[in-house]
Amino acid sequence: MSAPRKLFIKTYGCQMNVYDSERMAEALAPRGYVQTDSADDADMIVLNTCHIREKAAEKVYSELGRFRALKDANPDLKIGVAGCVAQAEGEEIMRRQPLVDLVVGPQSYHRLPALEAKARAGRKALDTDFPEEDKFGDLPARPKARRAPSAFLTVQEGCDKFCAFCVVPYTRGAEMSRPAARVLSEARDLVERGVREITLLGQNVNAYHGHPGGLAGLIRELAAIDGLARIRFTTSHPNDMDDALIAAHGEVEKLMPYLHLPVQSGSDRVLKAMNRKHSAESYVRLIERIRAARPDILLSGDFIVGFPGETEADFQQTLALVEAVEYGQCYSFKYSPRPGTPAAERAHVDEAVKDDRLQRLQALLKRQQRAVQDRMVGRTVSVLFEKPGREAGQMVGKSDHLHSVFVDAPQVAVGDLRAVRITASAPNSLAGTLV
Ligand code: SAH
Ligand code: SF4
Ligand code: F3S
Repeated sequence: MSAPRKLFIKTYGCQMNVYDSERMAEALAPRGYVQTDSADDADMIVLNTCHIREKAAEKVYSELGRFRALKDANPDLKIGVAGCVAQAEGEEIMRRQPLVDLVVGPQSYHRLPALEAKARAGRKALDTDFPEEDKFGDLPARPKARRAPSAFLTVQEGCDKFCAFCVVPYTRGAEMSRPAARVLSEARDLVERGVREITLLGQNVNAYHGHPGGLAGLIRELAAIDGLARIRFTTSHPNDMDDALIAAHGEVEKLMPYLHLPVQSGSDRVLKAMNRKHSAESYVRLIERIRAARPDILLSGDFIVGFPGETEADFQQTLALVEAVEYGQCYSFKYSPRPGTPAAERAHVDEAVKDDRLQRLQALLKRQQRAVQDRMVGRTVSVLFEKPGREAGQMVGKSDHLHSVFVDAPQVAVGDLRAVRITASAPNSLAGTLV
């Protein structure tokens, strides 16, 4: 057999892209590719891209430009663009950047081997369809190699919500759920390969309907898998947070006490303009119900500041909502107009005003995050160890609440789950000792 070809995949954007990059590498393996972590010696480069904000999308073009020298040095090098920019701007990418040989949208990864063969034959290959068939059903079975203790598993994809700012419904297509039997068999397989924690992924993962009991039903079946210690899921929409899922948080021990539940704004006027279909008050009430089921749950969220029409009074309501909820972790962004979305057509908030609001919001979120973290000191938590730390004998893992925890523990191995007493809190991590 000829020497394997080398595949370099660079992943941008959300966790789903991380999962997709794994599956793309697996799809290309039968075509003779092994992964490399450097673009320099690659025979194929794939950028798995994100279109969520302008900056993310623009990065792709500047990155592509830098591959010219590599292609001059290796005429056999093929360059591909996958992910959400590929879906949104497929033909434009081909026009703007002649270096690109292959463009593949997120729903067509099962067609990657055929596209690669076409590109190898010297033709431009583009596929941004939303095929009828389920790509997961057509992707090759996953390899049996040993894995890291924590893994992602996509169970749901796409979105029918059409928030006025968001490209995801256009780039990922309509909501679809993978059948529970497939998810469960993939999960069992991951566990056999050393995985102890699975994070279920979906753009609206709590709208999952591949199990008659919804996401809660799926979680309860996953919890019965021996050797699987932890279950998480992300990202959820407030309107799909049903009673069964709330109850699962109180009852399923393996379901971790962490919930990412974006609200975007604390102003009803802005929420309406965003087409979020919930109010600030209904969100706060929902949080109360979740906390009643699982009092120690750590909440995480996403916020957009400077959405078209947002006034200072609206922004003050966002700050008030943050104060009311008390988040342990948050992501916040300046509104970025996206082509083809309804909000892009509206009058925009001044950039300087957006900057100022983002700074004020982030200062508050940072204070909250630190306060929540500081309260962990003195408590005993379980930690899933993921890798050695920088110092000799040090190991790093994640707590139930997803805090990074540093422990001096040379006797601990990657994949061990141990009780740790938290002794100190630093800006973005905790330190502790084995109990
Ligand atoms: N499906 C998830 C999140 C998808 S995108 C959900 O509904 O919550 C992740 C985050 O990016 C969003 O929650 C939002 O806060 C942010 N985002 C999406 N579009 C944006 C835009 N046009 N400008 C700024 N931030 C945006
Ligand atoms: Fe985007 Fe809204 Fe769908 Fe989330 S729910 S992916 S923010 S359209
Ligand atoms: Fe980005 Fe697409 Fe994920 S736009 S955030 S990569 S769904």
